[in-house]
Amino acid sequence: MHTAHLTIDPAFRVAPVRRRTFGTFVEHLGRCVYTGIYEPGHPKADEDGFRRDVLDLTRELGVSTVRYPGGNFVSGYRWEDGVGPRERRPRRLDLAWHSTETNEVGIDEFVRWCAKAGVEPMMAVNLGTRGIEAALDLLEYCNHPSGTALSDLRAANGAKEPHGIKMWCLGNEMDAPWQTGHKTPREYGRLAAETARAMRMVDPGLELVACGSSSSSMPAFGTWEAEVLEETYDVVDYISCHAYYEEKDGDLGSFLACATDMEYFISSVVATADHVGARLKSRKKINISFDEWNIWYLSRFQNAAPPVDWPIAPPLLEDHYHLADAVAFGGLLITLLRNSDRVTAASLAQLVNVIAPIMTEPGRRAWRQTTFHPFAQASSLAAGDVLRVEQVSPMYETAEYGEVPLLHAVATHDGEATTLFAINRSTDQPLSLRIDARALGGARIVEATTLTDSDVYARNTADDPDRIAPRPNPGIQHDTMTVVLPPVSWNVIRLA
Ligand code: AHR
Repeated sequence: MHTAHLTIDPAFRVAPVRRRTFGTFVEHLGRCVYTGIYEPGHPKADEDGFRRDVLDLTRELGVSTVRYPGGNFVSGYRWEDGVGPRERRPRRLDLAWHSTETNEVGIDEFVRWCAKAGVEPMMAVNLGTRGIEAALDLLEYCNHPSGTALSDLRAANGAKEPHGIKMWCLGNEMDAPWQTGHKTPREYGRLAAETARAMRMVDPGLELVACGSSSSSMPAFGTWEAEVLEETYDVVDYISCHAYYEEKDGDLGSFLACATDMEYFISSVVATADHVGARLKSRKKINISFDEWNIWYLSRFQNAAPPVDWPIAPPLLEDHYHLADAVAFGGLLITLLRNSDRVTAASLAQLVNVIAPIMTEPGRRAWRQTTFHPFAQASSLAAGDVLRVEQVSPMYETAEYGEVPLLHAVATHDGEATTLFAINRSTDQPLSLRIDARALGGARIVEATTLTDSDVYARNTADDPDRIAPRPNPGIQHDTMTVVLPPVSWNVIRLA
């Protein structure tokens, strides 16, 4: 058994817990929208055709914001196709996913779904095939109260009240060669800046996100952020980060340490943004919207043939997550929380069926994937301030990241309750963790749960939906403030 200890002290404050850390993403991709959130013929569909079982699970997941409608999809999207009477909505080719888009769901339905789910919508505009005018039209349609062509059209379409969308992404992954209409950083930076300026003429209070690199491994990573921010610094609030991880070549040790790359990614983008700010002699800080993050077996997708015959809502990117995925995922969530001073919004990509914590069968059941649980626990229990923890942990060698601590942890503290989120990355040994909570005035452990299994590749399925779920941790020693974390585990320890 390994041993580690850590100190929790309210003085080690990083930033407030940001509710927007617990955002997700709904894209017109595969079965995320159709047979995901929307399936009119389903036995649990409500009067709008939304699946009640998915709405319930979304609320249980504790989602704050939902980014929409893409992703790669948005770079060819004409938002007007998705409003007005359904029978008049056109079908279009979706070049991003080689599918047919029926437009049965559009912006009005999505905002309606958000209200039912109790989440904040976050919108992306198309800067791939379109530009300033379409973005302004969409903004007027969504947010202007009434008395103009587009706001009155919204009312005529059944949404009298404005949608009031605050947060807007200026395109998606515009650096990426797979993006329809992708651009050089100067081309994109100019277009994003002019779009942002025009949108702010409508509403100066919008929160705008400029596209960062599609991943930290893109050839122009760093240069892209610097050049885009040189153009947009004064008119945007965020730069985006996107990162996906998967276990490669059976190297579980490296995979469990993937948050190391995310830490590097965040610190590099923060340094780049601050460097641009310094050169511009600006006091303003650009924060990060980590608006796509997850475990994604991207190599499987890249090796598969694209759909033929332009199907409607084909099953795409339907990864079935196992325990080790959930633990690596928990590590990423811990990293997002640890960086809450600069990562002030994030979106788990995505919500349903497409690399998602919620899975559905058309016409039948819905269930929680393994990754559902770290997200739901962190969203419901993280409160007050994020605290850095001072830890002493054994290290282990990884092929991808060198020496990495076995323990990866963060705490939150709201004056009364303190919660520690921790993963044990050891693939074969429990980790006995002693918690020094003297600065919390005699706080005791009140509960500890763990997400673990004897088989690190065990999954939840429709037939066995709760195989992997948080269970009480039997390894608590109250007198020594010690908890034993099983190998390959996600853990939540509550003190009061
Ligand atoms: O989330 C899946 C896809 O990953 C998104 O559409 C795109 O933005 C990214 O490349």
